[in-house]
Amino acid sequence: MPETTTKRCLGEPTEPANIVIFGAGGDLTRRKLLPSLVKMLRCGLLHPKSRIIGVLKGRSEEEWLASLYQGLRSFSPDISMNDEQWNRFTAMCKMVAGDLKEASTYTALSEALETIEGRCNAMFYCAVPPNWYTTIAAGLSNVGLTNESAGFRRVVIEKPFGMDLESARVLNNELQLSFDESQIYRIDHYLGKESVQNLLVYRFSNSILEPLWNRNFIDHIQISAAESIGIEYRANYYEKSGALRDMIQSHLMQVMTLVAMEPPVEFTADAVRDEKIKVLRAVRPFEPENIKNQTVAAQYGAGEIDGEPVKAYVAEEGVAPESATETFVAARFYIDNWRWQGVPFVLWTGKRLPRRVSEIVIRFRKPPFNLFDVEGNPPLANALVFRVHPDEGISLRMNAKQPGLTTDIQRSVMRAPYSDESGDIADAYEVLLHDVLNGDATLFSRADEVEESWEIIDPILKAWENKLSIHRYQAGSWDIEGMDELFTDCELGWHKPGH
Ligand code: BG6
Repeated sequence: MPETTTKRCLGEPTEPANIVIFGAGGDLTRRKLLPSLVKMLRCGLLHPKSRIIGVLKGRSEEEWLASLYQGLRSFSPDISMNDEQWNRFTAMCKMVAGDLKEASTYTALSEALETIEGRCNAMFYCAVPPNWYTTIAAGLSNVGLTNESAGFRRVVIEKPFGMDLESARVLNNELQLSFDESQIYRIDHYLGKESVQNLLVYRFSNSILEPLWNRNFIDHIQISAAESIGIEYRANYYEKSGALRDMIQSHLMQVMTLVAMEPPVEFTADAVRDEKIKVLRAVRPFEPENIKNQTVAAQYGAGEIDGEPVKAYVAEEGVAPESATETFVAARFYIDNWRWQGVPFVLWTGKRLPRRVSEIVIRFRKPPFNLFDVEGNPPLANALVFRVHPDEGISLRMNAKQPGLTTDIQRSVMRAPYSDESGDIADAYEVLLHDVLNGDATLFSRADEVEESWEIIDPILKAWENKLSIHRYQAGSWDIEGMDELFTDCELGWHKPGH
């Protein structure tokens, strides 16, 4: 397959490495990791001498590879591969059979690692449930696989990273017994998205934005991720997590730090992360008496999406009929510093909403005076919208004159897509795998960042603990109790995608 390379993507090719995947038979591997590795290889970003080592049990290597092939066909139909190409790809793969609890598994893994071009580099990707992270780290450390004398050794930890502050601290401490912090890559796939990275480039390479990027010009900011899918097959995880943990504590708060941070002194992992953590430290704590006014939680009931009937959350397989888990959440944050004092940052997300849209809306203050005194059609507050997906790009909403002998105002939207039809937007996992292999931790969360974000969220979790009931919204509708009130003092209110 490497020979079929037709297009070289922008980016540094990786060093050759052993790419070890724990949980190599699982869904994440089939849906995301494998397609990303295949694409990276095809466009020359993954070193062709790299090795992909799957650690799993209960299957032969032949069965494992067959399931990967099946996964590629069902989840990534855009990757076409004939038998010959597939055979060439599988020549790069090998399997280590074993139980993650057994020391022998790590010894076998150690023997399976290859020295390629004089270095025995290894990336260990934990695509397993969180209760295995520390077992794997200790297993690797016990057989000396965390030692970097022969090559780099990096571990990738998936979310959720803890379920609250205390569990995140415990996890950090335990991982740091086996790995140095510089070897730990806590993945948040939102940070690998093109638009999220582009936010930094827009902010820090265009001088016209900086003077406006503060409380003097910005009314409020909305960071959202609306999804039309439900919880799919993940009731077991989602019942314990809910939307606040699943999307706000990780993805959307990370995006908030990028929107709000000061310019770093240089574009290096620690300089960027130092600025991000200052934002988290400046977030005003949620006081128990304000949580009711500053948050909204709701759960989807039965409804219809795209003309198809959709069942209620409580009717999903594995969900308790009396469950009060939130599938929609909104929270209003304040960042108490000179730049952002008094500007609400409203983060919201939900499942089974009418459309899948994720965006960052920077809503500016309204014009101070209406010169064009047109009744019922005054100029509206401008907005700069970073579309995370779909249709990645940026748009600026301005007021313009309606054509003709009038000064009536109409909305004019200037759009700048990030890619034209010939361009290729890489999947977040391609970006992040590539960064791990190149040792660039800029887009990964540091231990202190994760703990700080849990510290902010913990009071909300505590306030919601033992809640017995929750508002319902109809699947496929934007009618969510409490949302209009959450935006009462925000210019133009809740920005529902497509409205
Ligand atoms: C995951 C959440 O981290 O992100 C899911 O666990 C969610 O619940 C997903 O659906 C959304 O990611 P994306 O890339 O599809 O927006």
